Amino acid sequence: MCGIIGVIGTRPAAPRLLEALGRLEYRGYDSAGIATLVNGRIERRRAEGKLGNLSAVLERMPLSGTTGIGHTRWATHGAPTEGNAHPHGTARVSVVHNGIIENHAELRAELEAAGQEFSTETDTETVAQLIDLNLRHGMDPVDAASAAFRRLEGAYALAMVFAGHADLIVGAQHGAPLAVGFGEDEMFVGSDALALAPFTRRIAYMRDGDWTVINRSSARFLDAKGNHVARDVKLTKLTGAAIGKGNFRHFMEKELHEHPVVIGDTLRRMVDPSTRGIALPELPFDFARIPRITISACGSAFYAGLTGRWWFEAIARIPTDGDVASEFRYRTPPLPDGGLGLLVSQSGETADTLAALRYMREQGQHVLSIVNVPESSMARESEAVLETMAGPEIGVASTKAFTAQLVVLACLALAAARARGTIGAAEEAALTGALLEVPGRAADVLEKDEALQAIAARLVQARDVLYLGRGNCFPIALEGALKLKEISYIHAEGYAAGEMKHGPIALIDPTVPVIAVAPSGPLFEKTASNLQEAAARGGQVIVFSDAAGAAKLKGIATETVVLPDVDPFVAPILYAVPMQLLAYLVAVLKGTDVDQPRNLAKSVTVE
Ligand code: F6R
Repeated sequence: MCGIIGVIGTRPAAPRLLEALGRLEYRGYDSAGIATLVNGRIERRRAEGKLGNLSAVLERMPLSGTTGIGHTRWATHGAPTEGNAHPHGTARVSVVHNGIIENHAELRAELEAAGQEFSTETDTETVAQLIDLNLRHGMDPVDAASAAFRRLEGAYALAMVFAGHADLIVGAQHGAPLAVGFGEDEMFVGSDALALAPFTRRIAYMRDGDWTVINRSSARFLDAKGNHVARDVKLTKLTGAAIGKGNFRHFMEKELHEHPVVIGDTLRRMVDPSTRGIALPELPFDFARIPRITISACGSAFYAGLTGRWWFEAIARIPTDGDVASEFRYRTPPLPDGGLGLLVSQSGETADTLAALRYMREQGQHVLSIVNVPESSMARESEAVLETMAGPEIGVASTKAFTAQLVVLACLALAAARARGTIGAAEEAALTGALLEVPGRAADVLEKDEALQAIAARLVQARDVLYLGRGNCFPIALEGALKLKEISYIHAEGYAAGEMKHGPIALIDPTVPVIAVAPSGPLFEKTASNLQEAAARGGQVIVFSDAAGAAKLKGIATETVVLPDVDPFVAPILYAVPMQLLAYLVAVLKGTDVDQPRNLAKSVTVE
């Protein structure tokens, strides 16, 4: 899951490649590089680490040329070093690649036997060497590339330039996305429309197996069999506006503070302001006839999905199942005819979730995606799409996109409940009313900064932290733990509070803080008993509850954060906010790279 960009035009390529890479850095930041054609020769600059390092290299050693390719890498094969940074290639061809070439070892052996000399261990260099060999055998660049594509196995998006051919870029999409941008006397390829947005709004999305031959004024598209195919040029809604941090220290901090607006904007799409009832866009299926919902997603998006499962079962009484996307399709679950497959994803590009979507389609499911990027692969391959109105989320750890996913799922569950007659109008109005209160209550929670700061100072000392929750707040315990580990590197686990006595209680001692997600509600007393068990064993219990809950837990809690009273139905949305904020504050105290934590990438487009 790397970011790819290519430009072919009349203006200097390097600054434009760099700008686009800045917008693609969310896909990986282990290394970056660009190559341009300078007087017909391929010249490249690469640097380990963040894009800033590549900018510094380019300042010292600028690159001219109006045609070029660029790459920002999340390491799969080979360490994140400059040597392994893309572009890779030879004097004849230079390649950038997103994905994995599965048969690279076999190809490499064959190419070495044919006299090709490799300079890296990367799977990407195999592609370049394969094309190079074809060029050595006298093929022209387009034939050399297309012959190579036929030999590749795995998932990939590729873009490449050729020495002596300043008016040519060849690109390919096979399991990883590639978009083609149409400018004025210039053309682009890129991993997504966001990268191309500053240059053009006219985008053609390729389909799997497609490849493209681009010159300064046009692109032609071919399918896997080499037939010419037409691909529509669409106007993207994305803007090229620079995405900034404003007055905040980190994107994550800014994005946390956007919760109230984002939750409000997402609700506005789902709730009719005059009736205050749920009003979803028309869906191509009837919830009353859905025998089962199957939810699949990864990471935080999966935890949103788990909360959704709870709502669908409890409120709409629909049997609902959920699994992380990396496991889901390998279980080969049989799915009932006419069931609903529900995918949740911020990026809409996560490889495992996309594969789950395709599996669901093969199994005859209606497929509905909840995505934040309406032009993403998942949105394009789904029967129906509900958009989270979170706007660009740049911090690698998901924040506002997560709460927006919860909002969409809650509204969907209410719509399903109405269609199935499992709630009456009065109850629907009450629950919708509770949802409409969340933006205001989320703003109140964001003011709890000081109370959370004191808890963060304690957590930063810890080696392990346990997060406990029950019912619809169990996934919020999972989310709290994931957020803490990914940005502060402190080990944390989320557990169903009632499950603790079956193992994890052995971990409890005064050095292991226990965070309780414990709003008042039907399961509060049960959670309280579980917390009592932890406190009795010397556990330091940090309680997140409302005033009534906090009062009841006074004897147990070593610290308490009192959150606003809300209906238990919406508690997961509200309680997610302090969990994320707390993780942020701990990470800041620890001095980690909050927006780009080590080893991670925002969009995971490899399996
Ligand atoms: C955690 C986080 C990840 C993503 C996961 C899925 O903070 O951001 O766990 O939720 O990688 O990504 P999307 O939602 O883009 O499919």
